[in-house]
Amino acid sequence: MAILQILHYPDPRLRNTATPVTGVDDEIQRLVDDMFETMYDAPGIGLAATQVNVHKRILITDVSESHDAPVCLINPSILASAGTEQMEEGCLSVPGVFETIERAEQIRVQGLDKTGKAIEFDVDGLLAVCIQHEIDHLDGKLFVDYLSQLKRSRIRKKLGRGQKQSL
Ligand code: NI
Repeated sequence: MAILQILHYPDPRLRNTATPVTGVDDEIQRLVDDMFETMYDAPGIGLAATQVNVHKRILITDVSESHDAPVCLINPSILASAGTEQMEEGCLSVPGVFETIERAEQIRVQGLDKTGKAIEFDVDGLLAVCIQHEIDHLDGKLFVDYLSQLKRSRIRKKLGRGQKQSL
């Protein structure tokens, strides 16, 4: 297992559209293991492969406090959604920024699990928000894209300063 480097906004590689996984092999399973290690270490509750500069349609989440509810979705898609919900979101690629975003409250998701088995389930609450946030990453979209131009430019300036200070 290895901790992978997480890309930070406004890195242009976060804008890549990830391509579907064609076969769940040892390499993909190793990547998923490394993504979990990276997410728990960060710490975060969700991570998309895009964020570790692998442009394949893989996302992971674990919204439990005890790190014992891992979810891995390969080639995820949302089959249906209902309701709306506003929740404060953050992102490991946009450190220190938390903003309220509106998303679907309930979703039905399908994809493959870590072993390549087809799965389909209904989900709501934080996990539903998290899966929508991570699928956005796979499409090159970030939660800050839902904010106003003014807020986004403030965030870019803030992150830019942070990078200079840490050189
Ligand atoms: Ni994120």
